[in-house]
Order: sequence, then C-alpha cells, then structure tokens
Amino acid sequence: MRLFIDTANVDEIREISRWGILSGVTTNPSLIAKEGRNFREVVREICEIVDGPISAEVVGMTADEMVPEAEELAKIHDNVIIKVPMTDEGLKAVNILKDKDIKTNVTLIFSANQALLAALAGATYVSPFIGRIDDIGQDGVLVVEDTVQVFAQHGIETEIISASIRHPMHVLEVAKVGSDIATIPYGVLKQMTLHPLTDTGIKRFLEDWETVKNK
Ligand code: E4P
Repeated sequence: MRLFIDTANVDEIREISRWGILSGVTTNPSLIAKEGRNFREVVREICEIVDGPISAEVVGMTADEMVPEAEELAKIHDNVIIKVPMTDEGLKAVNILKDKDIKTNVTLIFSANQALLAALAGATYVSPFIGRIDDIGQDGVLVVEDTVQVFAQHGIETEIISASIRHPMHVLEVAKVGSDIATIPYGVLKQMTLHPLTDTGIKRFLEDWETVKNK
C-alpha cells in the first residue's frame, strides 16, 4: 500500500517527504482554508516538493463549472489530479475529463456502490472517507473492503485511496483489506513512528553505551 499525506501545509509535506515514504498528497478546500493561502500557489509549491499525484479539488457544483476549473488546475503541473465530488454532476465531469486525459479522484465516497459508479465513469482514483463513516456508527473499513472486492472481481483498474484516516489502526486495517493507497494526516503519520518499547530500547542502549564508551 502506498502512502499519501492529507494536508495543504507545505512545512508538514516537506518534513514527511524527507522520510522517503510519500507517494503523493491530497488536499481539500477545508485543508486549503486552514492555511489561509492562495490555492494555486499552494498546489504549485506542493508539486515542487513531492513527485507523485497531488489532488486539488474543484468547487463548482455543475459539470459545466467543474470541467473548465479542472482544466485550469491541470495546467499547474502534470502531477495534478482533479478531485471531484461524488454527485451526478461530478460523474458527468469525470466522464468528460477522462476523454481529455485529465486524471480524477472522486471524493466524498461513502459506499462501494458510489465507488463503482465513479470507477465506471472513468475515475483514476476513488476516495472512501472511512473516519466520517465510522462517525455515523457504520464501518468505514468495510466500505473499503467491499470496494476492493468489487474492483478485483470485475477487473476495475481505478485505485482506492482510503481517506479520512483518524488513527494508526485505520492505516493497518485498510492495508490488510487491500486498499491501494491511504492518505494520512501529518499527526497520524507521526504517531505511526512511535512505540513505547522503541523508546525504552533506545534509553537502555544509550545507558549501556555510557558505561563502555571511554574504554
Ligand atoms: C481526503 O482526500 C480528504 O482530504 C480527507 O481525508 C478528509 O478527511 P476528514 O474526514 O478528516 O476531513
């Protein structure tokens, strides 16, 4: 499973990109708003840091609005992927963008059926939001598992980006059910590096080293 970072903060992206584990970046209008910066400028900067798919979301609600917006965003860099909401207008836009060779990531997916529609319309990626599904008392990982099964059974090449990841267990669970990608917030990536036995192990090695370092 490949890992993307789910943020529009370039400092976070720069730091994690140095770990050598990042394959891409996802942003959304809320993440961009948090940074309070010009959208296109942020996307351009992210493309300079990470060499992989960078999702940038359209805000138009009709296909007629989404398509020109997508064409403008796609001009920023070859790696820009257009995030389109999972609506009937979004499906129309994906279908048009596919014919223009513009890659899409259908976002706000909450069921395997929505993922199937998006894939058939021509989406390059689909993004099930597992944390938000859990929030309403349903099973987000199950939606990913169902989507993996449907895509495998029918030879669908659209890739699954597990999104709305809230904790390290989400990452492990979607990896086990076969998600292609997980897009992970900075804080969860940092949590994934931690284990108390690593800390006590380092402490003990350093204490033991102190006793022999001058011999
Ligand atoms: C994915 O591409 C979205 O940006 C993101 O994962 C949404 O997650 P949230 O539910 O934490 O806002």
